[in-house]
Amino acid sequence: MSQTSLNSLHYVDDILYWGNRFDLSPYASKASEAPVFLYNLPGIKERYQQMRQAWDKVSPNSKIFYAMKANSHPEILKLFKASGSGIDVVSAGEIRRAIECGFSSKEIIFSGVGKSKSEIEFAIDQQIYQINVESLPELQRLAQISAKKKKSIPVVLRVNPNVDVKTHPYIATGLSENKFGLEISAWPEIREIFKSNSSLSLAGISLHLGSQMMDFSGLAQALRLAKDFFLQIKKEFPEIRRFDVGGGLGVIYERQDFSAEEKMLKDYVSVAQDELRDLLKDPKFEIQSEPGRWLVAHSGILLTEVQYVKETPYKKFLIVNAGMHLLLRPALYQSYHHILPMKLYEQRKNQRYDVVGPICESSDFLAKNRELTESFQDEVLCIADVGAYGAVMSSDYNLQTKPQEICIY
Ligand code: LLP
Repeated sequence: MSQTSLNSLHYVDDILYWGNRFDLSPYASKASEAPVFLYNLPGIKERYQQMRQAWDKVSPNSKIFYAMKANSHPEILKLFKASGSGIDVVSAGEIRRAIECGFSSKEIIFSGVGKSKSEIEFAIDQQIYQINVESLPELQRLAQISAKKKKSIPVVLRVNPNVDVKTHPYIATGLSENKFGLEISAWPEIREIFKSNSSLSLAGISLHLGSQMMDFSGLAQALRLAKDFFLQIKKEFPEIRRFDVGGGLGVIYERQDFSAEEKMLKDYVSVAQDELRDLLKDPKFEIQSEPGRWLVAHSGILLTEVQYVKETPYKKFLIVNAGMHLLLRPALYQSYHHILPMKLYEQRKNQRYDVVGPICESSDFLAKNRELTESFQDEVLCIADVGAYGAVMSSDYNLQTKPQEICIY
């Protein structure tokens, strides 16, 4: 696989196409009503299948739980369900959405640091597959609720290994300074809670070190620590068999390079395979992962219309109708998203622009000092790779018009 990916954005006769089928020009007119997120469903399916195949090589007992937080559009969730994925959720709202989209309770993992009483009660009532616990007080709360309801739910301990995976600090989650996961050193207290609460059943351990990981040496280090911890726990709780390696596999935003991403996928699963080799020999051992971004990032684009071209003695601004209210990533993480014209015009030269939205903040930008083909008022631009953490992080700040979201099949 390669540049012929169904997610590739390219020009055919100077018109922007997506994959081998989708001519994007019919959608451009919609962007003047309101910016539009387009989702490429065949592209998502292709990515899921690639990831499925990669994990199949690691173990016949490997399970993928798509992390819904990356994109919770119902049609996308139904596609994951139909493709055989499970689902990783972080709120009661996401549990409800998963069930509405056809997932059975036994396909749901519930992660997150702040689960409320009612969310835990709901998860127990639904008898979901597993709850990933992140702190001692959460474990105690779960024990109380399980005892009261006389129902138990498999518990997986999310470990914080204090490992740096070299990503943006706002999306690093495996360092001691982060709020996520349990310290391995808390095992005596954790053990005590399990020993004194028969309603709790310990099923395994999990990790999630951060998002947009491009280098896997931190992952390898964390897996070594987690494996030792798993073996230590197993001495007293021989029934544990689940190992959740989390999500976090990154994508390349700066250029379109699907072959490089496939290579990254291979390297990523090889790290898991190498580090957990001994555990994987046990046919009962279950390896789980919770990917979000890698599966959907390239399968979302945002079409936005240029409202004004504003030139000052200092700068040229393209003021477009999408902004930080629809795509928060540039403002929050200074992230890069490729911006493409819908049509190529040979006679046009490149210009440097700040591409900014309508929101009343200077953090409201989609790109800074970016060289783009010269653009004019009323033209539509395509912002690439917004399938993950795009519309899900949008708001109605300034009471801007809600985006349209359209799936193409
Ligand atoms: N599992 C857990 C427990 C998570 O917290 C996350 C993401 C995932 C799985 C999925 O990670 P992924 O494979 O997508 O990297 N808004 C940020 C990303 C936040 C990620 C939060 N947790 C962004 O736009 O880059």
